[in-house]
Amino acid sequence: MRALGIESSCDETAAAVVELPGRILSNVVHGQVEVHARYGGVVPELASRAHARHIQPVIEAALAQAGMTPRDLDCVAVTIGPGLIGGLLTGLAAAKGFALGAGLPLVGVHHMEGHLMSPFLDSGQPAFDFPFVALLVSGGHTLLLHARAFGEYLCLGQTRDDAVGEAFDKGARLLGLGYPGGPAIARLAEGGDPQAVHFPRALPEKKDLDFSFSGLKTALRTFLARNPEGAIPRRDVAASYQEAIVDVLTIKSLAACRAIGQRRLVVAGGVGANRRLREVLRERAAAAGIEVCFPAVALCTDNGAMIALAGLRRWRAGERDGAQRNAMARWPVERLLGETQRNA
Ligand SMILES: Nc1ncnc2c1ncn2[C@@H]1O[C@H](COP(=O)(O)OP(=O)(O)OP(=O)(O)O)[C@@H](O)[C@H]1O
Ligand SMILES: [Mg+2]
Repeated sequence: MRALGIESSCDETAAAVVELPGRILSNVVHGQVEVHARYGGVVPELASRAHARHIQPVIEAALAQAGMTPRDLDCVAVTIGPGLIGGLLTGLAAAKGFALGAGLPLVGVHHMEGHLMSPFLDSGQPAFDFPFVALLVSGGHTLLLHARAFGEYLCLGQTRDDAVGEAFDKGARLLGLGYPGGPAIARLAEGGDPQAVHFPRALPEKKDLDFSFSGLKTALRTFLARNPEGAIPRRDVAASYQEAIVDVLTIKSLAACRAIGQRRLVVAGGVGANRRLREVLRERAAAAGIEVCFPAVALCTDNGAMIALAGLRRWRAGERDGAQRNAMARWPVERLLGETQRNA
């Protein structure tokens, strides 16, 4: 059983062909860093135009690299939300056209369920199955979920302000680094001293599993204003800032596992690529007797393969979407609970 997966919810135009249970036959990602870099963040209108330009060639490349024709596929999976509406509509229109032309069923996918599927792709790791706690950390989300079964996600905690990817991106801007900020901070932090500056850890009420990153960003701004270039090496500042983020993510994730008695933790989303997060979380989870599962680094950020796998699993469960299916800029992941037939 194979799907073409299409992703265009933010600044990656992506398509992939995936086969159950999670084998990647092709995975084409066209990024837009050069489009947005000079603005220091994603400009929605420019993103929409770039998706419209690249979506068709990206889909064709994904099929060609997999050596497949539409006849070799069982369904077309596409991200229908949440995300930037212009990009979502572009991907959905392309998916509908492709599905109609090829006589294939269409399955709309929640972008975060896509991220959640990324550790199951070509993982090479021992089979890791539901239930588990999921830490979804990306440009627009910071979520702790109790993933009880495929499609059944209960929110245990989320950010009250900035998403963690945003904290990296905004921190990078303050440090005069490029976009995207996560990889830039991680690179500068290599060899830096993570204990050089003590940035605040927002851990409101001990039992609370919510996050807050806006205070951290302000603390960095204040610190940089008081300590001009040269006072403390910037690599130490970057390492300390990264450490504050990693520390909070680790403490809350392990607290979530303890709170619901789960010994398995899945991490996904762009920030999951962070090497220091992988290192610290693995170490502290092992000490707590908790097993952690990360996706391959290249599959942490947006891609079509994760959408194809989520779509395939929904298709296998009997789900189909009609031509009237629309995109949603906002769509809480908890709403997937119990949702099966959405054709009405
Ligand atoms: N090595 C890294 N360390 C820290 N952050 C990283 C790293 N690599 C990528 N990121 C961050 O991940 C984010 C992009 O991830 P992703 O593509 O999953 O987000 P998105 O799709 O824009 O948002 P969402 O999935 O919430 O809609 C950016 O904020 C980027 O800075
Ligand atoms: Mg994403």
